[in-house]
Amino acid sequence: MSTKINVAILGATGAVGQELLKLLAERNFPIRNLKLLASPRSAGSKIHFGGEKLTVESVEEKSFNGVDLVLASAGGATSKAWASKAVAAGAVVIDNSSAFRMHSDVPLIVPEINPEAAAKHQGIIANPNCTTILMGMAVYPLHKLQPIKRIIVSTYQSASGAGARAMEEVKTQAQAILNGQTPTAEIFPYPLAFNLFPHNSPLNSQGYCEEEMKMVNETRKIFAAPELRISATCVRVPVLRAHSEAVNLEFEQPFAVEQARELLTTADGVKLVEDWQANYFPMPVDATNKDEVLVGRIRQDLSHPCSLELWLCGDQIRKGAALNAVQIAELLLQKNLIKPTASPAAVV
Ligand code: A2P
Repeated sequence: MSTKINVAILGATGAVGQELLKLLAERNFPIRNLKLLASPRSAGSKIHFGGEKLTVESVEEKSFNGVDLVLASAGGATSKAWASKAVAAGAVVIDNSSAFRMHSDVPLIVPEINPEAAAKHQGIIANPNCTTILMGMAVYPLHKLQPIKRIIVSTYQSASGAGARAMEEVKTQAQAILNGQTPTAEIFPYPLAFNLFPHNSPLNSQGYCEEEMKMVNETRKIFAAPELRISATCVRVPVLRAHSEAVNLEFEQPFAVEQARELLTTADGVKLVEDWQANYFPMPVDATNKDEVLVGRIRQDLSHPCSLELWLCGDQIRKGAALNAVQIAELLLQKNLIKPTASPAAVV
């Protein structure tokens, strides 16, 4: 992976943007020039990267000239406004928003699951929803051996899914409560500190929220399993930055717990965390800042002979967003699916 390319991060000042910067440095991503883009609010602010102080720019039409790869994490509206302009300027866009995920000409990729989908890209590749990625990582190794018929999942989602300001809001609310004051909420609809509530994305006519339907539709697309039956309940919990999920899997035939454990012990990007004597299993604090999805409490569902139960935790900002995006970028480079521009971009 030696060809160096010109990279732009759209949403560089956000929680995922900051993690993208860390990962690009940690993984020695071959960057020729790096451009940091955000809203006009952040224009002119400085961010350290690789021993340099880079200036954040407000995204505009000419921002993408000479850029080979855009890692976008500035929300769906921003992606809708800028992704096609970036592609027209010659860049490949890896988009962390939900704006394009279900478009038939946009691959939706978890590199450990469906890397082959990258070859079909037409400029935009979508990074799946965080809860979908984390669940996919834990259940795809089992699905590959024996197709899953039905998934029932409940999520316990941290504040980080709503961005850096949401994480700060929870801390402020906790402080207010501990000081005997009434907490206020701006990012979330209700105070999250010492509380929880069903995910507040818009509800459909059947009573499922958008986040729940993302788990249904995106998992089907990534697994190439349009018939897979999935029902999700997504809940926001007062955890700062790692999501947890309780997953029930129904197969056609009984699936031995020991076999599931063996498969997940060797699966890429998954770590089995089970100490039955100590009653120690994955916890969000242990998953925070980790690349792997932690899986444990794999057990036979007592209510169904063909079903397993498992529990997982994964860093929502890392594998649930930034790491998966960087892995997609690495995959594109390995497979020669990014065409670097001949001249360096006029950046930083
Ligand atoms: P800014 O910091 O200038 O608001 P998070 O998900 O952590 O809230 O971060 C969202 C990211 O998206 C931030 O970098 C934010 O920049 C950026 N962003 C939000 N709205 C826009 C916009 N209209 N144009 C460009 N970047 C945006």
